[in-house]
Amino acid sequence: MLERLQKIIAASGITSRRKAEELILQGAVTLNGRTVTKLGTKADPESDHIKVSGKLLRGPGRPVYLLLNKPRGYVTTVSDPLKRPTVLDLIKGTKGRIFPAGRLDLQTSGLLVLTNDGELAERLTTTAYRVPKTYHAKVRGMLDPKTLKRLEKGITLDRRKMAPCTILALAEGDKSWYEITLIEGRYHHVRRMFEAVGHPVAKLSRVRIGCLTAKGLRLGQFRNLRPGEVQRLKHWKG
Ligand code: URA
Repeated sequence: MLERLQKIIAASGITSRRKAEELILQGAVTLNGRTVTKLGTKADPESDHIKVSGKLLRGPGRPVYLLLNKPRGYVTTVSDPLKRPTVLDLIKGTKGRIFPAGRLDLQTSGLLVLTNDGELAERLTTTAYRVPKTYHAKVRGMLDPKTLKRLEKGITLDRRKMAPCTILALAEGDKSWYEITLIEGRYHHVRRMFEAVGHPVAKLSRVRIGCLTAKGLRLGQFRNLRPGEVQRLKHWKG
């Protein structure tokens, strides 16, 4: 069956559909030996010979969807030039090439999806799909109501306004715990927003991704997603 090249590339697990489009536009993709730069181009994943940056695309294979409860101290990457432990070290023994859908900082614990399905990865990491991620943060001091509202509305960082979020106080005092739900995921997002208002984060954990929670998963453990969970995340309606 003919399908768009960017869809075939994303389904092979090497990258997201958006990145595949960029690669096509950059002239990094060949179809049966010819460079293709038109985004509408279709191909047959079963019989056509598709190369990305000189590498032959393997068939889509079986999709893999894992939910990991990441401990602190693991880098969210496939390989680390500094040779630190990576999240892939925690899931040894699973078949095929998988990659993290999104990232958690070295010192952040909690939920991370790993997959070879570029489409799901894109849905989980692109703000437009609005899949919420919830964090528990231990911060210095407590937010006054005005600052809390300011953070919820979205402060400006790096000259770009953050998307609105919701913040719930779980416990307040010298050290406080807040529950933060975001649909956006910028670099050090939670840490930087609290730092910006004078309440640095001491501990951070992601406790929910859309319909996924850590129920039954101790730190360092992982499980397969159920087909219903994959479908819900791919067609997120809240
Ligand atoms: N926000 C952060 O600051 N760090 C994370 O790991 C995730 C969200």
